[in-house]
Amino acid sequence: MAQINSERFLADLHELRQFGASGVGKGVVRPAYSEADIAARDWLAGKMRDAGLRVHVDPVGSVFGLAEGPSLLLGSHSDSQPEGGWLDGALGVIAALEVARASVEAGGPPVSVVSFQDEEGRFGVTTGSAVWSGNLPLDKADGLTDRDGVTFADARALMPHREDAFVDPAQFSGFLEMHIEQGPVLDRESDAIGVVEAIVGIRDMKITLEGEQNHAGTTPMQGRRDAFQALSRFNTLIAERFQNVVTPSTVWTIGHVTLHPNASSIVPGRVTFSMQWRDGDADRLGRMETIIRQTAEDVAHSGGFDLSFGPMLGLEPVDMDARLHDALAHSAEAEVSGRWRKMPSGALHDATNVSKMMPVAMLFVPSINGISHAFGEDTDEADLVTGLRVLAGAVGQLG
Ligand code: GLV
Ligand code: MN
Ligand code: MN
Repeated sequence: MAQINSERFLADLHELRQFGASGVGKGVVRPAYSEADIAARDWLAGKMRDAGLRVHVDPVGSVFGLAEGPSLLLGSHSDSQPEGGWLDGALGVIAALEVARASVEAGGPPVSVVSFQDEEGRFGVTTGSAVWSGNLPLDKADGLTDRDGVTFADARALMPHREDAFVDPAQFSGFLEMHIEQGPVLDRESDAIGVVEAIVGIRDMKITLEGEQNHAGTTPMQGRRDAFQALSRFNTLIAERFQNVVTPSTVWTIGHVTLHPNASSIVPGRVTFSMQWRDGDADRLGRMETIIRQTAEDVAHSGGFDLSFGPMLGLEPVDMDARLHDALAHSAEAEVSGRWRKMPSGALHDATNVSKMMPVAMLFVPSINGISHAFGEDTDEADLVTGLRVLAGAVGQLG
């Protein structure tokens, strides 16, 4: 079996952290297609080449390091949230690089590596792998905009060395993604490894309510069409109306709000906000959508607002492939007997899209205090190395 080198793996992980280092702890600011993201992908392509892999940058800027002939595919993403941690995505990419490099040194099994573009959804939801898998047509993706109005088409044009063709998925026998848990379970239970059983589904759309902008001093409370008040009412109402539909593991978030014109002395005339919800049951996601649309209509109608919905983005819940899952479970048992568990993923991953094309499975390592999508995200280095060993062990079994 290939001999992985944990020092080399950790050194690469720390080197990648320098691209977009936030200056706060180990945090990074490396959103898709930012200067830091493009530079990091260039660095990664060099590492892939040094490891003996053939680099292919696809039309949206996902970076593949390809082994010759049929292979397993390993990886994740190297873009970050607007405020992100050093491991979200990066861990799976660098672990993949180390396993592929060690495999080349050992003369097999063949392993390819990928860093998908825009997993963190500057433009959509796991945009790069969604386009590759056909979950999101490229022409639809091209029309998506980030929160500053930049289109996906303009952003991906910034990515150098793109080739015209997408990578043919038929060359891969399966996809393994290692990731931090991004939640509290493993840390709280002192488990070293989570072997993922299923990934939740998600829906995400923008909602706009347009009322009337006016003077904050002279406009009587009675009769105002205040867009912030409309959002506030919507937020309260959906929580009430969801009550008999959701379970304790259902989540919903209004994470981004643009209030116009966003000034203390102006009754706000317009609000656009993101509405995102996640659950393991596709039917429930649909019932929540009905409530969301109806509630927005009710708020708009009762307060005299114009209402519009942006495009609906989403991914269905998916189960992991049994054979790949079992390989990870056997490897975890061999490496950390009694200190691993099977668990669902409440975070999204590229693996969801890739499951359209080939068998997929995932493993998690603990997140200290369950913190992620924040500069404070971290994991003990010993846990990172354990995860790498479990991944390499599974590749050894499958290869
Ligand atoms: C991806 O990082 C997510 O939002 O779960
Ligand atoms: Mn991630
Ligand atoms: Mn993330």
